[in-house]
Amino acid sequence: MRLYIIGAGVIGRTHAEAAYKLSESVQLRVADTNANTLASFCEQFPEAVGFTDTQEMLNSEAAENDDIVIISTPPLAHFNPTKQALESGRHVLCEKPLAMNESQACEMIEIAEKNNRLLGCCSVRFKGMPHMETVKEVLRSGCLGDIYHVTFVNKWERSRSGIEYQPSSRWFLDSTKSGGGVLMDWGPYDFTTLNDILNPTKIEINASWNAQPITEIDPLDTPFDVETHVGAFMTYHHGARPIHVHYERASCAHGQEYVKAEIEGTLGSLRWTPFDSKQPVFRRYDKHGQIVEEQVETGPRSPYTIFDNPLLHFYRKVKGLESYANINEYALMNFRCITSLYSVAETGQKQTIDLPRKGVAL
Ligand SMILES: NC(=O)c1ccc[n+]([C@@H]2O[C@H](COP(=O)([O-])OP(=O)(O)OC[C@H]3O[C@@H](n4cnc5c(N)ncnc54)[C@H](O)[C@@H]3O)[C@@H](O)[C@H]2O)c1
Repeated sequence: MRLYIIGAGVIGRTHAEAAYKLSESVQLRVADTNANTLASFCEQFPEAVGFTDTQEMLNSEAAENDDIVIISTPPLAHFNPTKQALESGRHVLCEKPLAMNESQACEMIEIAEKNNRLLGCCSVRFKGMPHMETVKEVLRSGCLGDIYHVTFVNKWERSRSGIEYQPSSRWFLDSTKSGGGVLMDWGPYDFTTLNDILNPTKIEINASWNAQPITEIDPLDTPFDVETHVGAFMTYHHGARPIHVHYERASCAHGQEYVKAEIEGTLGSLRWTPFDSKQPVFRRYDKHGQIVEEQVETGPRSPYTIFDNPLLHFYRKVKGLESYANINEYALMNFRCITSLYSVAETGQKQTIDLPRKGVAL
């Protein structure tokens, strides 16, 4: 099969590496507007055919039914290459966040449907990992009773993309290029994970806020207008009893670093570390009035890493196999959670998101 990568930067290279773990051989094409980046990509992957013009790459040969294009450019450059690739007759796997805003994302899905192609989002990076599947199994088993509360907090003290992390990619800090800050950067993983685990039919965003805590090394020589700390109070609906979700994500906070994912039910709770599959999953319940804490068996580790998963899941979908990919309206649904959080923070008005699938009662 043929894989076309648009954007030869940091994440484009991880997708190229993942391509070699697929069950068939892959012919690699790559496009980047920056000739130096393109040259260094082609040095790292000598078999890749490089182009500085995306359209030229897409026009260079007729589309095959299983061609995959990966969009690994900054968010500002997700829409146009996605449109070009879908209209060239190829399936598209787009990096997160799906788009700069909701109207762009809706248009991308419309173009995919009109051209009868699949549009997936890389926010599924953590889906299908054994520890995540274990959490879902315990939840569906009913042993936690009625689920009523979820804490989903990933608060890091100093981990801003474009400053502490990957300082060479300053575009992360500029909302006209990134679409937003830590919510656009990490929110896609958070909501893809939460929605996969809780499987809601409807989400109410009751309140949301965001902030940009100031540090003494904030860059002054480049636009820096994005939030680095966000939070929300939400209600997830999936059956008779609503689940109240406390959400927080920070790449910079003066409060203490704090990472916690916990699901609480009337008969027990479950605690895990969503973005670190090496960490254990714990179940707690009552025995004779005392708390018992047990580590839950999560089974063997996957041979695939979080860097392989987006392409692996999408490839399986393209091949008609069972897959964890989020395609078309499911990709849009996860992105809509992010745009709604921004909107609720700005307007102070609660928002409701109806989801395209039937929730499974927990
Ligand atoms: N860096 C990470 O760890 C990481 C992880 C997961 C997802 N992502 C996502 O991947 C995307 C890219 O991030 P990155 O870190 O690889 O960025 P990067 O800055 O390392 O690379 C982006 C590349 O895109 C190229 N580019 C920009 N506009 C282009 C266009 N119109 N056509 C072709 N090429 C163009 C740039 O020249 C650059 O080489 C973003 O959406 C980001 O959120 C990044």
